[in-house]
Amino acid sequence: MKVKKAVIPAAGLGTRMLPATKTVPKEMLPLVDKPVLQYIIEEAVDSGIEDILIVTNRAKTAMDDYFDYYPELEHRLMGTGKAEQAHELRRVADMANFFYVRQRETRGLGHAIARARHFIGDEPFAVLLGDDIMMAEKPVLKQLIDAAEKYDCPCVGGQYVSDEAIGAYSSTKLRALEDRIYDVLDINEKPTPEEKLSNFAVMGRYVLTPDIFDILDATPPGRNGEIQLTDGLAALCHARRMIAVDYDARRYDTGSLRGFLEATIDFSLKNPDTGPWLREFILEKAKTL
Ligand code: G1P
Repeated sequence: MKVKKAVIPAAGLGTRMLPATKTVPKEMLPLVDKPVLQYIIEEAVDSGIEDILIVTNRAKTAMDDYFDYYPELEHRLMGTGKAEQAHELRRVADMANFFYVRQRETRGLGHAIARARHFIGDEPFAVLLGDDIMMAEKPVLKQLIDAAEKYDCPCVGGQYVSDEAIGAYSSTKLRALEDRIYDVLDINEKPTPEEKLSNFAVMGRYVLTPDIFDILDATPPGRNGEIQLTDGLAALCHARRMIAVDYDARRYDTGSLRGFLEATIDFSLKNPDTGPWLREFILEKAKTL
């Protein structure tokens, strides 16, 4: 199995971050010095992905503009001694081959992934959710791809979460295979405490096989009246082997204000341009709080 294509569902309405996300897609909010979406793209590219499909909607054209060339701006930068910035804009636009499809109705994550069928064809592919930003030594998607290739089957990524948190995610029934890798026996979306299968939540990263598309087309609306990817994954893991990787990373939910602020602080402390002075600033502030 070789995974060269990725799908990024980015057609959500961003209701958790209003009013900031009324006219700016949540994926385009700046995390330190670049949009959230760029972190996702960089993780995909660092994991070996070459072709990326972004599932967008009518209000989110800023995303395809961002990965386009902007010759007038580049020309201006070149002419004013800012060649480095101009080259950086080109580098970002050339990071991967970008494709776009619109999800014309907001009908859930499973429905968004189903829009990728023609782009994917008959290949395995990755899915990266734009809200889930990772800080990791080895890219999280690469951790999944390595496991999917080893076992030649679809693979989902997640982590153990608290009893209070599991109801916000999908929960899984697992059987241990090796360190941090499991067989997935069952999965359900946003379980009540009674429905919970375990505290292992699948979050943000998936390596899927094209048989998921027939399954998604036949999946009825589930939680919140939406076509859930998780319901499709439940059918997939009953039909064939599917594994889970407990990925080694600090995960941030940048779709929530708290996660967004935590990511902003952690990534700016790690950034060599902003880290040293921010550390001083925070230490100084802490004295007066
Ligand atoms: C989605 C998925 C859910 C997953 C979560 C975090 O939920 O449906 O299975 O656990 O992302 O990646 P959402 O946060 O969009 O409600």
